Amino acid sequence: MKHNRQVPLSFRELPTDEMNERALEFRELMTRRRTVRDFSDRPVPRALIEQCVMTAATAPSGANQQPWTFVCIADPATKHEIRLAAEEEERTFYAGRASTEWLEALAPIGTDANKPFLETAPWLIAIFAQRYGVGPGGKRTKHYYVPESVGIATGLLIASLHNAGLATLTHTPSPMGFLNAICGRPESEKALILLVAGYPAEDAQVPDIARKRADEVIVWRE
Ligand SMILES: Cc1cc2nc3c(=O)[nH]c(=O)nc-3n(C[C@H](O)[C@H](O)[C@H](O)COP(=O)(O)O)c2cc1C
Repeated sequence: MKHNRQVPLSFRELPTDEMNERALEFRELMTRRRTVRDFSDRPVPRALIEQCVMTAATAPSGANQQPWTFVCIADPATKHEIRLAAEEEERTFYAGRASTEWLEALAPIGTDANKPFLETAPWLIAIFAQRYGVGPGGKRTKHYYVPESVGIATGLLIASLHNAGLATLTHTPSPMGFLNAICGRPESEKALILLVAGYPAEDAQVPDIARKRADEVIVWRE
């Protein structure tokens, strides 16, 4: 059993007015986030991406196992390889693997099998979930609540990239097994999301879709 050492919590209490102001400001900031599918090729410094990824890595995780790996790709040859592999999967998806119901759900978004942004955008962040840990000598350790933990980290990453002034696309070419080979990740890891990050193209447009109202998403029990 590992011992349990405790340290004082660093917590800064805020005046109520400031709490309300910050909550409102953050909501307004996040309301402006949209998934972008037309990217500019303007470069984005690696240091900025690193700050955002390390914010994602502050996420809570089951038993603090931090079961995530972020492969940050700017190399044009790797992006080209990912585009080719993703488009191949997406062609079979749109041409039959997807159910009619799924395609109908996607219709308002207007997506198809062409993914030029995988090469145009300056950064692709392939987010891998470590399904189990591999210790010295190849000994496996069980990981707990992996999809939940990586999902929360991904949410923080999207929020922090948006906060830094970048646009993102949460992309999930299905299936994503090809990312292990291209990114050199072991069998213990499963690609969950390919996050595209950069500046939007000047003429970028987004689907005219709405978010649910508070009474549709919150159930109060007071
Ligand atoms: C898990 C997940 C997978 C997604 N996969 C794709 C995708 O493969 N391609 C795509 O164009 N958008 C994808 N999206 C983006 C959604 O279509 C988008 O978030 C949704 O339409 C709401 O739009 P908004 O993000 O602009 O609010 C995905 C989003 C999530 C959360």
